[in-house]
Amino acid sequence: MSDANHLITLSRAARLIGVVRGELQKKIQQGVLRAFDGMVTIDDLLLAYPKAQLEDDTEYTRVSQIKEKAFGKRIFERAMPDVETLAARVTELSKALTLSQSQLKQFKGLLDHLGDQLIDICKQPGVDAKEAVSDLVLWLGQAVSAALVPDSPNPLVVRDNLLRVAAAHVTVLPSGHDFFIDGPDTLLEGALRSGVPLSYGCSGGNCGLCKAKVVSGEVKKTRHHDFVLSESDKAQGYVLLCSNTAVTDVEVEAPVAGGVQDIPFQEISATVKSVSLLNPIMALLHLQTPRSSRLRFLAGQYVSLRLGKSLSADLPIASCPCDDRNILFHVRRMSGNLFSDYLFDRLKNNEVVEISGPEGEFILQERAGRAFHFFALDGGFAPVKSLVEHAMSLEPDEGINLYWIGSNDDSIYLPNIPRAWDDALDNFHYTKLVFGHDLTTLTAIREEALVKLVQGVINDHPEIADGDIYIAGPESASRVLEQLFLDLGLPKTRVFLTYRSL
Ligand code: FES
Repeated sequence: MSDANHLITLSRAARLIGVVRGELQKKIQQGVLRAFDGMVTIDDLLLAYPKAQLEDDTEYTRVSQIKEKAFGKRIFERAMPDVETLAARVTELSKALTLSQSQLKQFKGLLDHLGDQLIDICKQPGVDAKEAVSDLVLWLGQAVSAALVPDSPNPLVVRDNLLRVAAAHVTVLPSGHDFFIDGPDTLLEGALRSGVPLSYGCSGGNCGLCKAKVVSGEVKKTRHHDFVLSESDKAQGYVLLCSNTAVTDVEVEAPVAGGVQDIPFQEISATVKSVSLLNPIMALLHLQTPRSSRLRFLAGQYVSLRLGKSLSADLPIASCPCDDRNILFHVRRMSGNLFSDYLFDRLKNNEVVEISGPEGEFILQERAGRAFHFFALDGGFAPVKSLVEHAMSLEPDEGINLYWIGSNDDSIYLPNIPRAWDDALDNFHYTKLVFGHDLTTLTAIREEALVKLVQGVINDHPEIADGDIYIAGPESASRVLEQLFLDLGLPKTRVFLTYRSL
């Protein structure tokens, strides 16, 4: 059971107050909040945020809700862990409470004993000492009585206890990544949902690639797995991350993908879950992989899709790596392109689509202190959407800015998604720009017009040049933007580009 002077991690403190970790770090730098080895006490938190109350959990709820929306899950499905995990977590908290109560009793016994000793001293000669010690005994009695009167509970301690029941904090060693396990998630699901690319294979307890060592804390098996851990593995604390959840805060030793080289090339037969027309020129393709063969990828990567023997296309993935079974793509209608024609006119649910990949190096560079600026041109929104969702899960200190430039209104085909992000997240800003000309076929004059349009944005927001730039869309337009930023003096290492969109 947490106590007001108990040290908690910055991640947990940020959750408790409902702010991003970067805000707490700023307060520490400003000297408004004391920190001890990167941790803070609840008392100090309450001093820095005096208005934080148990009832006032709007911010926490709001942040949770936007995350749930972003990951396409309904909050009520994910609000609490399964009953057994909940019972295990409550039991852990009860143990801590019992320990505190027992310590309190010992404290009272100690003071009683001290009082007795002082009374003994009073019995010895020396009037002044008698008086002083007698006063002391009186004070001591009153102090002990006061200490035993239950105080009104610190609201942050109460909320922290509730959060501890609903979510456990996981630290990955040696990388230092951390995340929370919400609801019934396994350790692997919690990590992927938070953008931590742990090593894994099947997600289903068969391959053993997610084997990791629990260094501290308690985990609980929530899913059966066929992969057999040796007795020696078990004795050393190894578990499968895809089959266990965290009961208490835990530290696990597990490898994290350091880049695209750590993601294996895969070949998977998926089926069409749905094809939905977003507007006359864009469709949303939803593929589902078999349970036992899911697609592991990094946000921003693309795969090759093959329909039958002759139709194929390379498409960026428009969904989050946290859901490795449900893979989304945005497809543009291009008359004469056989893949596009088939998808818009004939593709049916449950048809088989062969996926191979992933490939591509258009992935997020997690560098502290730099804002993310995304420039999505037409269908370039697909990989950008995946990257933005990843960036949001990192809760970066600096902002996330999205500029979606469409050839026309129809080219901005999912306008509600970035608008909802903008409404719900303080550090996310969205700007819609309609170019008015086809971005896939640029003449020299139109290139100039595009440069002028984006230069106008940069003039209004000169801070863009201090961040990392991600550009996705039709090749020629993307290259125009890339050159613009290079001409502004940005090094190539801070301008990232992909132009693989149908
Ligand atoms: S990912 Fe295959 S066993 Fe966990």
